[in-house]
Amino acid sequence: MKILAFNGSPRKGKWNTSTMLEQALDGARSAGAETELINLYQLDFKGCASCFACKCKDRDEIGVCALRDDLQPVLEKVRSADALLLGTPVYYGTESSAMRAFLERLQYPYLNYEDFSKSHFPRKVRTGLIYTMNVREDQLDAMGYPAVFERTRSYLAMHFGSCELVLANNTTQYPDYGKYEANASGEDKARYREEYFGGDCRRARELGIRLVS
Ligand SMILES: Cc1cc2nc3c(=O)[nH]c(=O)nc-3n(C[C@H](O)[C@H](O)[C@H](O)COP(=O)(O)O)c2cc1C
Repeated sequence: MKILAFNGSPRKGKWNTSTMLEQALDGARSAGAETELINLYQLDFKGCASCFACKCKDRDEIGVCALRDDLQPVLEKVRSADALLLGTPVYYGTESSAMRAFLERLQYPYLNYEDFSKSHFPRKVRTGLIYTMNVREDQLDAMGYPAVFERTRSYLAMHFGSCELVLANNTTQYPDYGKYEANASGEDKARYREEYFGGDCRRARELGIRLVS
């Protein structure tokens, strides 16, 4: 059982998205999975080039992107993965640019234009989608975020079989709030993190375990 995870934040280490992903992968490993985390910002790749090689009727292989860059071997690994986990910070109300580019390349070769209900991905695998963001939970509806998350979740479910969401709100963005512009104090952010981030990480861990089952 191999789970492939993708970090759509440029920040690695102890930051929000990578921490949530590591928690999920730790849960998956505790349930017996082998895991691999890929940091998208370390790869040199672009989004879909609209070349339509993956839609050509006489193509050699179904579900293969023709672009040759750092994503090619990664997409090759996706073909044999048993579950996929994607994590991204919210940037301007949607996924980060690297995650958006990745989503295009990951999904479009499997999109069956003749029948959207029949994915070209040959199997059904579980997928998980983690978002971390500044906005508080009580602001989500007013910002229109649930519709954005649901659209991406449903596309992943359409291509791969199923997809579950986990969110972390009001995340800590700076190491020292005294040194940067902010609409909240470092004390308020630290208090919120202390109270809620542990629960977010627990939900991520439980998601990781469910990806294995
Ligand atoms: C370029 C940029 C745009 C952002 N836009 C939003 C946004 O629209 N909504 C939001 O809630 N947070 C926004 N944020 C905050 C991040 O989503 C949040 O801090 C996230 O948890 C960072 O994840 P990381 O610690 O893994 O990098 C933005 C941050 C950056 C750098």
